[in-house]
Amino acid sequence: MSDGYSYSSKKTDDICEDVCAQDGSRAAKALSRVRCLLRGLDFKTYILFFTLVPLLIFGAYLHGQKLTYFLRPLWQSPPKPFHTLPHYHHVNVSMQTLCALHGWTHRDTPRRVFDAVLFSNEVDMLTIRWKELHPYVTQFVILESNSTFTGLAKPLVFAANRENFNFVEPRLTYGNVGGRFKRGENPFVEEAYQRIALDQLIRLAGIQEDDLLIMSDVDEIPSAHTINLLRWCDGYPPVLHLQLKNYLYSFEYYVDSKSWRGSVHRYKPGKTRYAHFRQGDVLLADSGWHCSFCFRRISEFVFKMKAYSHNDRVRFSHYLNPKRIQDVICRGTDLFDMIPEEYTFREIIGKLGPIPRSYSAVHLPSHLIEKAESYKYLLPGNCVRESG
Ligand SMILES: *[C@@H]1O[C@H](CO)[C@@H](O)[C@H](O)[C@H]1NC(C)=O
Ligand SMILES: *[C@@H]1O[C@H](CO)[C@@H](O)[C@H](O)[C@H]1NC(C)=O
Repeated sequence: MSDGYSYSSKKTDDICEDVCAQDGSRAAKALSRVRCLLRGLDFKTYILFFTLVPLLIFGAYLHGQKLTYFLRPLWQSPPKPFHTLPHYHHVNVSMQTLCALHGWTHRDTPRRVFDAVLFSNEVDMLTIRWKELHPYVTQFVILESNSTFTGLAKPLVFAANRENFNFVEPRLTYGNVGGRFKRGENPFVEEAYQRIALDQLIRLAGIQEDDLLIMSDVDEIPSAHTINLLRWCDGYPPVLHLQLKNYLYSFEYYVDSKSWRGSVHRYKPGKTRYAHFRQGDVLLADSGWHCSFCFRRISEFVFKMKAYSHNDRVRFSHYLNPKRIQDVICRGTDLFDMIPEEYTFREIIGKLGPIPRSYSAVHLPSHLIEKAESYKYLLPGNCVRESG
């Protein structure tokens, strides 16, 4: 019996050696090696194996997105870095001096400025933006659709609130476009369609060669002094991306200064296209603010989470629970329970956990401070939102 045992054991070993020694493909070899390994395991190990695997699969289902984001540095390298231009500003320094500090020349007359946005429902952000840019903008161009990027029907919110924007009326070019309501389509297609319609509206607004065109989302607000500098100086690249300070939920949560999607273009007919992706390599430092998910009411958070181009991030319906959303805002954590989108482990780990609170309301859009009482929810110390 002992002979038999040692015989069979010997035999197994032999088979394994045989298999492992074969000159098969690498994959085949690896597979056979695993098979040999398994053969040597006992019953307890199998039990462990068959409980662990389903658990791992369940864990991957719950946290798969987190895992892929955490491992992002392994599968994605960062994009080519921008060339960042230092940005100088002080209220008491003359425009001649400021242009010269940037290595630019001073113009005799300022350029005309067009500010163009695709509007969804961000009435407060639009007011703060337009008040900020008002002294320097020639035409405010705004397009809205009765469809969100994700194909949900939405009211024409700007049209319904137009009387609140009387201060821009003489300089306003407003347009609306019917949604295509294609079910199950990638939201980026509807977004691209609306951006093309916006290109046409910008031409209708009377833009001419060499006018400045601001391309940014409503919540990406260039500071007034930045636009004033660019309209008075000459000598910077035809496409300049704007480095904005990123905030989340309100100006109480300062995230980083990595927002770069907003840009300013010297308009070239037939060439300039309204876009929200990278169109150049030069970034002007500290040029304004980007306040994401900065809403007054919880219902607006719910709407945005559904309407948003990344709506696949709403993986569980409890993410839309108003009580949860309120808790997330006051804790400064993530609405979608995601890992920070960064390219190095150091940055990912550095950003894990809640965003620290800021107590600064210095260097913010002027209208926000002038009307601080009406925009309390955007300022430090006021994380509780209106429920309706
Ligand atoms: C600002 O400029 C004015 C005159 O242009 C000057 O009198 C004043 O001292 C300056 N203030 C500062 C803080 O530099
Ligand atoms: C959206 O707007 C278009 C054009 O104005 C209109 O034909 C369509 O009926 C509207 N759809 C909805 C759902 O409001």
